[in-house]
Amino acid sequence: MNNTTKPTLDTAFKKDVFEGLTQFPKYLYSKYFYDEKGDKLFQDIMNMPEYYLTDCEFDILSLHTEAIAEFFRGSGHGFDLIELGAGDGKKTKILLKYLGENDFNFVYRPIDISQNAIDSLTKTLSNELPKVDVRGEKGEYFEVLERVQEYNTRKKVIMVLGSNIGNLLHKRAIEFLAKLKDSMREGDLLFMGFDQKKDPETILNAYNDPHGITATFNKNILHRINRELDGNFPVDDFRHWESYNPESGTAKSFLVAEKPMEVTIAALNLTVKFDAWETIHTEISQKYDDQVVEWLAGEAGLDIETSYTDPKGYYKNYVFKRINA
Ligand code: AVJ
Repeated sequence: MNNTTKPTLDTAFKKDVFEGLTQFPKYLYSKYFYDEKGDKLFQDIMNMPEYYLTDCEFDILSLHTEAIAEFFRGSGHGFDLIELGAGDGKKTKILLKYLGENDFNFVYRPIDISQNAIDSLTKTLSNELPKVDVRGEKGEYFEVLERVQEYNTRKKVIMVLGSNIGNLLHKRAIEFLAKLKDSMREGDLLFMGFDQKKDPETILNAYNDPHGITATFNKNILHRINRELDGNFPVDDFRHWESYNPESGTAKSFLVAEKPMEVTIAALNLTVKFDAWETIHTEISQKYDDQVVEWLAGEAGLDIETSYTDPKGYYKNYVFKRINA
C-alpha cells in the first residue's frame, strides 16, 4: 500500500473497502454483494437445487402454515407482521395467502434494503393477494429496527427468513437479536430461520455449486469495486474458495489471488498488493443446532417458544419471545 494523499472516505462502502483491504488478512463485507446484479445472482442461487435452504424453508412454511398462523394471531386488535429482508416474498406468500383467506386482522410490513424489491413485491401482492394490506419500507436492518419500535400499539410479529442471521459472527448475531428483543413487548413474537448443521458435503455443495453461480456472486464484489470506486481488479485472476468447519458450523467464502498483483482503487487513492494465493475473506454462512440457537437467544434475552423443521431436518424456523417482558 502506498497511498500518498489521504482519500475522502465519504461513504460507508469506501470506508469499509479501504479498511478491509488494508488489514491482514484482507476481508470485504458480504452485504456489498447486493447491487442490482448481485440481487439477480442471489435469485439464481435460490433457484439452484444445491442451495437447499430456500426449498427447506418453503416446505416448512407450507407444511406448518396453520400452526404458524395461529401463533401469529393477535387478540382483538390483530397484529403487525414486519418482515426484515423481504426480498421477492416467495416464501412469505404462503403465509400471507393463508392469513388473507382466513380473515386474520393484520398489516404486512415488508422491509428491504432494495427499494426495487419493495416496489415489485408490493405490486405482485396487490395482484395476487388483494385482500392483504401491504405497507413496504426501504431500509437497512439496524436503522429499521428503530422504526420497528414505533409499531407498539398492538401485537407485533417480526419475521426474518432465509437464515440471513448466518452472515453474522455469534457476537454480532447476539447484538442483532438483543436489538430485536428491545423492540418487543410482552406477547410479541420473533419468527426466524436458522440453517442447521448437517452432512458437511451438502453444505459445501450449496456454496460451491457446479454451475459457478456462487463464484460469480462472490466475485461481483470485485466488479462493484471496479465499477463504483474506479478499481482495476483482474477479477478472472481470483478463485472462489469455500470451506466448511463442521466443528464450529461456519462456512466461509474467500476470493484467492492466483498470482501476485497490484490493484489500484482510484477513488480510494489506494494501491493494494497481493501475494500469490493471498486471500480476501468475503462471507460467513453460519450453521446452527438447537443448543447454539438457545445460547444465542438466551444471551439476547429471548426464549425459544417452539420450532418447525422440514422432513430432512436441514433447516429450522424458531418462534422466540422476550424473557420477562
Ligand atoms: C442470504 C446470507 C442467507 O449465506 O446462505 C448464498 C447468502 N451466499 N450463497 C447464505 C449466500 C452464498 C445467503 N444468505
